[in-house]
Amino acid sequence: CLWVRNLRLKRRLPGPFAWPVVGNAMQLGQMPHITFSRLAKKYGNVYQIRLGGSDIVVLNGSKAIREALIEHSTEFAGRPDFVSFKEVSGGNSMTFSNYSKPWKTHRKIAQSTLRAFTSANTQTKKAFEGHIVAEATELVDIFHKLSAGGQYFNPGCDLTVAAANVICALCFGKRYGHDDAEFRTLLGRVEKFGEVVGAGSLVDVMPWLRSFPNPVRTMFLDFVDLNRQYFGFIKSKVVAHRETFDPEVTRGMSDSIIGVIEGNGNTGLTEAHTESTVADLIGAGLDTISTALHWSCLVLAKYPAIQTKLQELIDREVGRARLPTMEDRSALAYLDAFAYEIMRYISFVPVTIPHATTSDVMVDGLLIPKDTVVFVNQSSVNYDPMTWKDPLVFEPSRFLDENGCLDKDLTNNVMIFSAGKRRCIGDQIAKVELFLFLAILIHQCHFENKPSQDLSLNYTYGLTLKPLNYKISAKLRGEFLPG
Ligand code: HEM
Repeated sequence: CLWVRNLRLKRRLPGPFAWPVVGNAMQLGQMPHITFSRLAKKYGNVYQIRLGGSDIVVLNGSKAIREALIEHSTEFAGRPDFVSFKEVSGGNSMTFSNYSKPWKTHRKIAQSTLRAFTSANTQTKKAFEGHIVAEATELVDIFHKLSAGGQYFNPGCDLTVAAANVICALCFGKRYGHDDAEFRTLLGRVEKFGEVVGAGSLVDVMPWLRSFPNPVRTMFLDFVDLNRQYFGFIKSKVVAHRETFDPEVTRGMSDSIIGVIEGNGNTGLTEAHTESTVADLIGAGLDTISTALHWSCLVLAKYPAIQTKLQELIDREVGRARLPTMEDRSALAYLDAFAYEIMRYISFVPVTIPHATTSDVMVDGLLIPKDTVVFVNQSSVNYDPMTWKDPLVFEPSRFLDENGCLDKDLTNNVMIFSAGKRRCIGDQIAKVELFLFLAILIHQCHFENKPSQDLSLNYTYGLTLKPLNYKISAKLRGEFLPG
């Protein structure tokens, strides 16, 4: 009976012909999100592909994605039962675990801790901004040195350390610095994480590939090792905080999470959940932010007229005698518009972390069975010509209204933090970090492309899109202002 029902359901969902054993794996190409958008033109915004042994539904376009993730939020709140997901954060990751009652508690704790440290309380909010200023000014100094004598450099590594330092400072009250070799090695490896958990990775859908030597197996084994090394590092810091825990003194989010999960509140969660929450927040908060900043530096070098417009605006509103702060935000709407255009145009998280359905559900008139893996192609929303005029053109001012203010209806149309029950919980702090990092970097530096380098903004695909090895310079604009 189930077999007959499945057969009927399969026929209802449109999609390309799937080959035996591999399914559609060979058709995804180097840029699966672009392939997903192309297939949507042929099969509609909701269709099915097959990867190895898994049937996967792909959602495209604002209407279908919002119908699924918002109107049917519980039905789409699951995560697939993937082997790689169980390797993350010691096996207790909130981000990578399925929808359940303990998951809801876990998410609520992570969400309220983030809010308390970055927006609710003036003192912690100021400390958060202070961490960003400290890292941004150190970056300026590093970039200045790397550009000395007309040299060009890849800013990726230093941006990752800077973003990691901000989130580590929030969690532990301590940064680990640009010179700490262990920390730098670890962060260099974190970059590989997204290749395995990104939608379209073959590690989980073709499990047999893990059993004999081949690139997918190597990738998986590296992933396991990297997760263990990363989690070991974070766990040792949380354990040290637990041993010296004083309920009267909160040194950072780690202490706050220890207090909530391991205090008397009876959350049903354990010490292992404390460690995984901290590991999840640090992991999510460093790769995404550093990727956004990396793309921003490249785009500034690629579009000098936009860079000059931003510099002139910041010089006019802030002056050259001090650094920009969050208080300048309302006067710098064009800078926020630039950040939104980076999120839209680059769509550097093109497909969300894979979802799974928690029960049978209808979307766009199509029945999707329980436990189906779902890929949410959010980049398709950012390039929809029905929403965006000239979507292929990089134009920050598209987000400004006739008074030069941010048009909230338009900014809400950008989809990069997903939607519904799995929506990113770090979206607000991400926007603050991007604004302040960019304001200081643009105020202090002038980014230039290496002559003869074609800055075509190509990338490698994964959960985040990583720019290729482009080199730029960042010359100091006037006198260096320490934070
Ligand atoms: C999940 C985007 C920054 C914490 C996600 C997801 C996306 C995303 C697309 C997956 C949603 C889904 O599966 O439907 C981004 C972008 C960022 C950013 C574009 C920066 C520009 C951050 C920061 C933090 C954070 C700074 C925390 C410090 C999380 C967590 C989840 C998540 C914990 C898992 C939510 C869940 O599974 O319930 N983010 N994120 N993110 N993000 Fe972010």
